[in-house]
Formats: sequence, C-alpha cells, structure tokens
Amino acid sequence: KKSVRDVEVTGKRVFVRVDFNVPMQDGQITDDTRIRETLPTVKYLIDNGAKVILASHLGRPKGQVNESMRLTVPAQRLSELLGKEVTKVDEAVGAAVKAKVDAMNNGDVLVLENVRFYPGEEKNDTELAKQFAELADLFVNDAFGAAHRAHASTEGIAHFLPAVSGLLMEKELSVLGKALSNPDRPFTAIIGGSKVKDKIDVIDNLLNIADNVLIGGGLAYTFFKAQGHEIGKSLLDDTKLDASLGFIEKAKKLGKNFYLPVDCIVADDFSAEANHKAVDIDSIPADWEGVDIGPKTRALYADVIKNSKLVVWNGPMGVFEIDIFANGTKEVAEACAATEGYTIIGGGDSAAAAEKFHLADKMDHISTGGGASLEFMEGKALPGVVALNDK
Ligand code: 3PG
Repeated sequence: KKSVRDVEVTGKRVFVRVDFNVPMQDGQITDDTRIRETLPTVKYLIDNGAKVILASHLGRPKGQVNESMRLTVPAQRLSELLGKEVTKVDEAVGAAVKAKVDAMNNGDVLVLENVRFYPGEEKNDTELAKQFAELADLFVNDAFGAAHRAHASTEGIAHFLPAVSGLLMEKELSVLGKALSNPDRPFTAIIGGSKVKDKIDVIDNLLNIADNVLIGGGLAYTFFKAQGHEIGKSLLDDTKLDASLGFIEKAKKLGKNFYLPVDCIVADDFSAEANHKAVDIDSIPADWEGVDIGPKTRALYADVIKNSKLVVWNGPMGVFEIDIFANGTKEVAEACAATEGYTIIGGGDSAAAAEKFHLADKMDHISTGGGASLEFMEGKALPGVVALNDK
C-alpha cells in the first residue's frame, strides 16, 4: 500500500483519520498513547506544508452529540504534544467546517468533532463520506485501531479521494504483517482473555502459523470442562466445548505445542478480599472459581517465552485488575519483557496490563489496535486498509 510519503502533500488539504479513542476519566485522558503514536504522521504533514484536518471517533455516542465525548480534550493534548496551536471545531462536516478549512494556511492543524456524533458514520453512509471527502484533496488513514470498522471516515471516504496510509498505519501493518507472514522461530502465541468465542478465530489462525500456543485467562476453563474436569464456578461457554477439543486435535495433527494451564488460582469470591489458593487443574473445588494461572503454569510459560524468537500476546492470563489475581498476567508480561525474542502485544487489555506493570517500554511493539489487531491476527482483511490505494 502507498503511504503518505509516496504522494505530494504540500499545499494540499489532507483529511487524516486518526484513532483518538483514548481512555478518559472525569474529563481527563488517562492514557494518551494513541495520540502520541500519531505524531509522526501529523508532524510529517505539518513539516511538508499540508493543511492537516484530523478526524476521529471517541467512545460510542450512537449517532448523537454527547458532551462527554467531544474531541476537545484530545485536541488540546495534541496541541501540547506538538507544541503548536491546534484549532478544534464543534462539527465534523457542514458550512462552518468548510469555512474553517478555507481559512487554513499550509502547516495548520484542524481537529474535527467526533465523527460518531453523525448517524451516517457507523452506517458507512455515502453522503456523509462524500461530505468528508469534499473537505480535502487527499485521505490519509492513520487509524489502525479503527481499521476493522467499515465506517464513513475509515472506508467510505476512500472511494472519493486518493487514499493512502499514515505512518502509524504503515508501521502497524508492517510489524504485524511480517510477524504473521514470515515469523522468526520458535514463534509463540499467548492467548488469554475471558471469552472463548472472542478468541476462537485467533486461536485457529495462530495454530496454523505459530510453533507454540499458550492458553490462559477465563477462556481456559471451557477447555478443562471439555476434558472432563470439574471447573466449579469458573467461566464456561458450553457452546464451545467441541471447538475446544478441536483445537487440541488440530495442534496434534499439525505437530504444534498447545499448552493449557496445569494449575490455577481459585477464589471463593470475585473480589480483592476473597479467599484464594493455587490448585492443580484436576482439583478445582466445586464452589470456587478460577481467576488466574497458577505458579507451575507461570514458570512453564515463562520458560517457553524465554526460548522464543517471536512472541505475540493477546489477552490477560487472569483478572489482573484485582491485585491478588494479577500474578499470572504480571509474570507473563515480565517474561515477554525479558525475552530476547521480538515481542508484540496485541493491544487492548494486554497493552493495559503491560502499562500497569510498567513494562510497556520493554516490549518491541505494542499495537494501538484492540479489535483491529485481533482481526488482523485472525487473518481477516481490515476494511479501512482494503479501501486504500495500492498504486
Ligand atoms: C478501539 O478502541 O478498539 C477502536 O478505537 C475502535 O472502537 P470501537 O470498538 O468502538 O469501534
């Protein structure tokens, strides 16, 4: 795919879709990684004399104006990070926006309002896409985190303007693409999280590509149940029992190492005050629930990770938001940080965990995409990428 470096931008009005969907609490940004990660593209465009028009969604306002989801605060943060004035408008299309764009000088930055305040955004409405396109001469998609969404500002607009990737998009696609198409080996994939159904496709695809697949998190208990173990009150998706056994079979057939936890932490309550203890997988008490991988599993997984040349991690090993259930996720994060292999964190919860344990800067690549990186690792095409021009 072409990137912003491959086209003329000087003096052009450039509509840049970014993912400024940052976590916020009481009107404050709690993690501005996604904004910082767009700086290379924004600076490149400023330095090359483009008129930079930034568009993003924030949260899920469902097609209506929502005061707590305005892009005003992210725009302010961008301005601080750039050390440069940034204009914010309170709409994303229409006469007022057009007037602001007409008044821009080369190198100016304008941030539009949350594109999801418009019902047409998530419907990928053609009229809205055309209105976005009318603001600009070029479309740059730098919103890797939203690339799995076929929305008016991510996909639709690309049909009405020359469309290229931004530098963050380019980096994400190149790192993740190389990992999956030409991995250094041994290649270890670590899959956690709570729901089996969310991870079925990624486990399936990574079993094809990786040498080792390590399973953790709430989704592991469906596997144990399928193997005939008592799992007490642990998470269970009884529609995925056959699929779970299928993975064990598939791994055997392909000669892959498929690891399930050998022990776990069980608790009598889902709280920081719970009684909890480590037990082997065949000894889960009937009225307790599994909340983390146990110490034997942690040591086993750390060993596999240590001996890997490439590690891709998606999904926590336990309920890491509660400190007494966080050790499995923490030790996996530590092993990823310590290994000499290249480590990729697949966004979302695992990225938050790496941050929480102050290990983020020890990872080689932390994706800015949650759902997007998951779909990429599932081997699916991302509509926001497909729509970009090849030549
Ligand atoms: C994300 O946070 O994963 C992206 O910004 C996409 O957000 P969405 O799940 O609301 O589409």
